[in-house]
Amino acid sequence: MKHLIDIKSMDKSEIAQIISFARTFKLGKRKPSVSGKTACLMFFENSTRTKASFELAAQKLGMNVLNFDCSTSSLSKGETIRDTIENLYAIGVNNLIVRTSDNNFFQRYRDEVKVPVSFINAGAGESAHPTQALLDFLTMLEKLATVKNKKICIIGDVAHSRVARSNIELLTRYYADVHVVAPEYFMPDDKRDDVTYHTNLIDGIRDASVIMALRIQKERFDELDGCDIEHFIENYQLNSELIQEYCEHAILLHPGPVNRDVEITSELLDSHKGRTILEQAQNGTYIRMAVLEMLNLRGTN
Ligand code: CP
Repeated sequence: MKHLIDIKSMDKSEIAQIISFARTFKLGKRKPSVSGKTACLMFFENSTRTKASFELAAQKLGMNVLNFDCSTSSLSKGETIRDTIENLYAIGVNNLIVRTSDNNFFQRYRDEVKVPVSFINAGAGESAHPTQALLDFLTMLEKLATVKNKKICIIGDVAHSRVARSNIELLTRYYADVHVVAPEYFMPDDKRDDVTYHTNLIDGIRDASVIMALRIQKERFDELDGCDIEHFIENYQLNSELIQEYCEHAILLHPGPVNRDVEITSELLDSHKGRTILEQAQNGTYIRMAVLEMLNLRGTN
């Protein structure tokens, strides 16, 4: 594994190794072995969790960290992304951690760039957010031991969600019973045979072991046929009463950022159930430590 671009390109032994490294880092039982390498954060879109946890992960591993500021860089003077990346490599960057709105960024630059820099996808458009899926997987394993045959329900703006796509790719590989709940205006076009789709919230959450709420990604669409926030709140917002009635023991997940009182009520978010969302954020650091460790142990750079 030279790059971490999407879950589809990873085999199960690589996923298992990342989970294992993350667990041992969390227990304080693994000594980092990649100190001195350099990671560069190149974020074309805003982020709190992913950026902060990648930065902290690299620091905890003893790596050097560069924060590339896209808006003040020489991209604004006409330098191409390819030339920028090749120059960053020349300066000493080993790992380039990129967040972008471009679904095809990694496929394009992995082929175009002529230096052996290692790419890490920190969220690409609507297509993939592999480290989010890995940290969600770790959180589920900690709570449930396995996802096999567990009903996992992903709710909300699935059409625009890279988190949903990466989770579905990963969870179906591990034989989870994956359900999606969305109104027609947030239903994805790329439906799969191994996922069950509902427009009714209760059908999706009934007896679920995991419910994963998603933010409405307003930045990814101008207008959608029939999309109406009030309709969404009325029919798809999660609250404690619904969970108590239909899936009392379910774990509540959300990749963040949460829009309070849209996809989840504040009372649910602030309840005991809502705390798992912060555990996800915490696991993000360990997963990203594991990813950096693994890429630098095996990478050629
Ligand atoms: N889950 C997630 O990617 O959050 P950020 O956008 O804050 O990084």
